[in-house]
Amino acid sequence: MTKNIAVIKGDGIGPEIVTEAMKVLDKVAQVYGHTFNYTQLLMGGCSIDANGVPLTDETIEACKASDAVLMGSIGGDTNTSPWYKLPANLRPEAGLLGIRKALGLFANLRPCLLYPELAGACPLKESISAKGFDMLIMRELTGGLYFGEKKTEEVDGVMTATDTLVYSENEIRRIAIKAFEVAMKRNKKVTSVDKANVLDSSRLWRKVVNEVAKDYPEVTVEHMLVDNSAMQLVKDPSQFDVMVTENMFGDILSDEASMITGSIGMLPSASMNETKFGLYEPSGGSAPDIAGQNKANPIATILSASMMLRYSFDMQAEADAVDNAVKQILKDGYRTGDIMSEGKTLLSCSEMGDKIAEYIK
Ligand code: IPM
Ligand code: MG
Repeated sequence: MTKNIAVIKGDGIGPEIVTEAMKVLDKVAQVYGHTFNYTQLLMGGCSIDANGVPLTDETIEACKASDAVLMGSIGGDTNTSPWYKLPANLRPEAGLLGIRKALGLFANLRPCLLYPELAGACPLKESISAKGFDMLIMRELTGGLYFGEKKTEEVDGVMTATDTLVYSENEIRRIAIKAFEVAMKRNKKVTSVDKANVLDSSRLWRKVVNEVAKDYPEVTVEHMLVDNSAMQLVKDPSQFDVMVTENMFGDILSDEASMITGSIGMLPSASMNETKFGLYEPSGGSAPDIAGQNKANPIATILSASMMLRYSFDMQAEADAVDNAVKQILKDGYRTGDIMSEGKTLLSCSEMGDKIAEYIK
């Protein structure tokens, strides 16, 4: 098969980790007889430097014309980078939110899994981590507070800022359907997270999730308040299979979930629309502190490329080959700095990419 992939390397460690993911994709292409064509595009800080804006129409159109988008990370140090002296709508993050919206990527899949080899890096007590966990957070990505009307104004002489949390039943239904569909392919349990004891948007969310649940009688559904969910994630993460939630709750809970896997450098993500089209990026950020040092962990990006093979290209065997190569290098004791422990072999970012590519046969 021939696939056209839009590549947004981005800022910070982005270029390094995406280069390794492309190395692995090229090996997959070679072994399985595919052709992957890449179109490199700018977004985020590098686009601000080149074009004065974090996202151009050209990048959006080129992404739309491709079969999928592979992304690294965007943004810089919010305290020191000149990008953060710009108005909010011209900062790197506005590019990311803008591209999600422009491509209609409403479903963000963030799998969080504890690899047995990395159990030592999990900050939870051994009595909890010993049970292991394997969950997927399905975060709504184009609605809620991050996209609602916002303003900062003076009201009766006092500066006042407003953000609006809006969800329509259609927005809730389509993400709920994605969650149940994924649950059917996993352990058939959906935990819907909301704040229905306080928020109207959450009460509608719960109602619509219950309606969708009727079409999936095999899936167990439960509702959990977001504050309790934050607690349960560290008390017993093994109870979760698919967790579906609105944009901001998902943003926060997915960072919490990533931490208990040991390193955010291990977590891939997929952002999808109604079709098979998706944007694939590691869950972690641009890590400006280690950028350019060939130290970053490319595994999250490599696993994101694997999700692209699986969800956008229907290449299950190829995706399994990448996932298994990652499991095997961990078993064989290879580590980047973030997951290093005594007696293991420390690899640079590019050496890790080489190693994983080598394991795909
Ligand atoms: C994420 C990030 C982004 C988000 C930021 C950079 C806008 O935190 O992908 O989780 O909040 O969606
Ligand atoms: Mg986040």
